[in-house]
Amino acid sequence: MNSAKLTVNLGGDEKSMDLPVLIGTEAEVALDIRNLRQQLGVIVLDPAYGNTGSCTSAITYIDGEKGILRYRGIPIEQLGEKSTFVEVSYLLINGRLPNKHELSEYSRKLTMHSLIHEDMKHFFDGYPATAHPMAILSAMVCSLSSFYPEALDATNTEVFDITATRLLSKLRTIAAFSYKKSIGQPFMYPKNELSYCANLIHMMFATPCEPYPIDDDIVKVINLLLILHADHEQNCSTSTVRLVGSGQANLFASIASGICALWGPRHGGANQEVITMLAQIRKNGDDVNKFLTLVKDRQSGVKLMGFGHRVYKNFDPRAVLIKSAADKVLSKLGRNDPLLETAKRLEEAALKDSYFVDRRLYPNVDFYSGIIYRALGFATNMFTVLFALGRLPGWIAQWKEMNEDPSTRIGRPRQVYTGNTALDYTPIDQRE
Ligand code: SDX
Repeated sequence: MNSAKLTVNLGGDEKSMDLPVLIGTEAEVALDIRNLRQQLGVIVLDPAYGNTGSCTSAITYIDGEKGILRYRGIPIEQLGEKSTFVEVSYLLINGRLPNKHELSEYSRKLTMHSLIHEDMKHFFDGYPATAHPMAILSAMVCSLSSFYPEALDATNTEVFDITATRLLSKLRTIAAFSYKKSIGQPFMYPKNELSYCANLIHMMFATPCEPYPIDDDIVKVINLLLILHADHEQNCSTSTVRLVGSGQANLFASIASGICALWGPRHGGANQEVITMLAQIRKNGDDVNKFLTLVKDRQSGVKLMGFGHRVYKNFDPRAVLIKSAADKVLSKLGRNDPLLETAKRLEEAALKDSYFVDRRLYPNVDFYSGIIYRALGFATNMFTVLFALGRLPGWIAQWKEMNEDPSTRIGRPRQVYTGNTALDYTPIDQRE
C-alpha cells in the first residue's frame, strides 16, 4: 500500500496522518488529501492549481515532458490523420470509437439537429455588427436551454445524448450566423447533404446568390483543427465547465461558462492575439529580435503570445501538426501569408534564446492556428469561436464524466484568510 506521512508541527503541537497515494494508469502519483482538514485541521494552498488535481479522469492524457496527447488512449497524430471531428466527438463522449452503424446514426442525428429555433434568429438583431462572436456564442448557448426545458435538470440522464447532439450541431450554426451577422450577409441555413465540417464552411462562406463549391482539402484541414482542439484534460475552461456543472447547473449553462473562460487571452483568446502580435511586429519593421527584447523586458508586460504552457514543457504536439498543416494549406491555396514567415522567424529566434529556453517556453496550439484560419478566410475575431467549436466535445465529455461519478460533490475550494480580524462597526460621524 503506497502512502505518504504528513506531520504538521505548530508551535510544538505535532500532528501526523498517513495520506493515501493514488497512482494513475500512466504512473501519475497523487497524494489524496480529501480528509486532510478533517484529520489535521489544515488545508493546502495552491493558487492556479499548478500542483493540484481536481478529479480523476479517463478522457485525455497529456505528458507535458514528452509532448504526448491522447484522447481515450489514442494519440492525436493518428486521430488527426485517420479520423473525423464527428468520430472524435463520439470517442471523447462515449469512451470508444463508434462502429459503422453507430457512426452513421451519430452523423445523421447531428445533421438533423443543425437548425436553431426560428425565434433564436431574432436574438441576433439585438447585437451590434461589432459584437464579438464569443459574446454571442456564450449568450446563445445559455439561451438554448430556454428551448429545451427538459434539459434544465442536469440529473435527467435520459436527455443527455440529445442535448449533447443539439449542442454539437447547433454551436456550429450559431457560430456561422454570428459571422454572417458581423458582415451583414444573410444567414445560410445548413444543408443536410453536407458533412459536419463542410456544413460549417457552407454556412460561413456561401451566399444565396450563387453556388459555393466546397473544397475537400479545406474540409480535411478543418476536421484536423477541430480534432486537435477537442479536449485537453483540466484546462481553465474545462475546469470551469466542471465547477459550474458540479452545482448541478444544466449542460447549456455549463458549456456557456466554458465559452466565457476560453475567451481570455491567456487561454483560447490567444489565437486571435497571436495574429495581432505578428501584424504589429511586421508594422514595426518585422524585426523579431527587437520584439523578443521587448518581451524579455518584464516592465513592458508584453508576452510572446502563442508561446508557453502550464503543462507542456516541451513542444505542444498540436503546434507541430498545425505548423505543418499551415504550410500545406497555404501552398494548396497558392497563398503566401507574410505573417507565417514572420511567425517562423519568431519561433526560430525564441527557441535559440535562453530566456525562453530556460523557462521552457515553446509554441502552443495557438501559435500557428490563426495563420490557417486566416488562409481559410475566417475573420480574426472568429478564431476563438473555432477553438470553442473544437473544444465542445471535450467539455461535454468532461461534464458527463463528472456527473456520472457518484463521488462528485459541489466544487468549493477553501482559502487562507488574510483580512481584518474582528472589528466593530464605526458610526459615520466617527469616521475620518
Ligand atoms: C491554451 O491549459 C491548457 O491546456 C490550455 C490549452 C488548451 O488546449 O486548453 O492548451 C490552450 O490556453 C494555450 C495557451 C495560450 N496562451 C498563450 O499563448 C498566452 C501566452 N502564454 C502565457 O500567458 C503563459 O505561458 C500561459 C498562460 C499559457 C501559461 O502560464 P503559466 O503556466 O502560469 O506560466 P507562468 O506565467 O508562470 O510563466 C512562467 C515564466 C514567467 O517568467 P518568470 O516569472 O519565471 O521570470 O515564463 C514567463 C513568465 O513571465 N512566460 C512568458 C510567456 N509565458 C510564460 N514570457 C513571455 N511570453 C510568454 N508567452
